[in-house]
Amino acid sequence: MDFGRILILIPLILLSFVSSNDSHSIIRMRTDLSDSYAGVRKIRVDDSLYCDSWRFVIEANDAGKWSTVPKRCLEFVKEYMTGGRYTSDSEIVADYAVAFAKTVNVSTNRKDAWVFDIDETLLSNLPYYRDNEYGSEPFDEASFDLWVDSSVAPALPASLRLYNELRKLNFTIFLLTGRTENQRTSTIENMLFAGYSGWEKLFLRGASDLGKLATVYKSEKRREIESAGYTIHGNSGDQWSDLTGFAVATRSFKLPNPMYYIA
Ligand SMILES: *[C@@H]1O[C@H](CO)[C@@H](O)[C@H](O)[C@H]1NC(C)=O
Ligand SMILES: *[C@@H]1O[C@H](CO)[C@@H](O)[C@H](O)[C@H]1NC(C)=O
Ligand SMILES: *[C@@H]1O[C@H](CO)[C@@H](O)[C@H](O)[C@H]1NC(C)=O
Repeated sequence: MDFGRILILIPLILLSFVSSNDSHSIIRMRTDLSDSYAGVRKIRVDDSLYCDSWRFVIEANDAGKWSTVPKRCLEFVKEYMTGGRYTSDSEIVADYAVAFAKTVNVSTNRKDAWVFDIDETLLSNLPYYRDNEYGSEPFDEASFDLWVDSSVAPALPASLRLYNELRKLNFTIFLLTGRTENQRTSTIENMLFAGYSGWEKLFLRGASDLGKLATVYKSEKRREIESAGYTIHGNSGDQWSDLTGFAVATRSFKLPNPMYYIA
């Protein structure tokens, strides 16, 4: 917006405040805010505003590394994850990904690739996090590994839709996860259980990948894919470390995840 338009807008905005009932209009704003979280009466208005801003900064990676959901945001994150917002946000991310995919001129040589992360991207670990305070407790690797071995994580519906759409468009699909090689069998079982099939290759962390930052490990694997002659058009992940580094995709699609952060 150019400066001239701002100069015209400012008096208009001021006028709209004056013509409505000033002190009342401010109170009404706050009422509307809590109404938009109707059903979660447990979230205080100031927590709901703070936590919405907190969610913005962690999703935009403005916060950098963070370890657990602030206690005051537990109810907010729970409501976000289970009350429809998470579903809606991920559906809209998928809509944009599908729209982009349709602009790609997919050739018949099978070299047009899309890379997917697994956890909180294709599979949802929400049943696990529901039993573990939605990320407001420190991560417990032992119990999470048991959950992974159970192979019953459901698909994130928006991602399953995107995945199937990409297959119809003849993209070659690569799975690139921070899970380790010893979780290969349970991961494949879980992917099939959730309704996925037809991927080209599943990358898990091998012995030489242990201890690497996710950004480095994932960039190296993407470079490997490119070296094999593929063009990575799209990349979907819930962590910035799924998407950034080198050998990045033409378009990266960040899915929401207010429960944990992986560097
Ligand atoms: C503002 O509120 C007062 C008291 O409630 C009322 O008398 C007045 O008409 C209102 N003004 C406007 C512009 O709505
Ligand atoms: C799509 O690719 C084909 C073959 O690679 C090429 O002939 C055609 O011009 C391309 N179309 C567009 C719109 O780029
Ligand atoms: C995908 O590939 C198959 C087999 O090569 C072809 O028959 C089909 O038309 C392709 N679909 C699209 C959307 O390009």
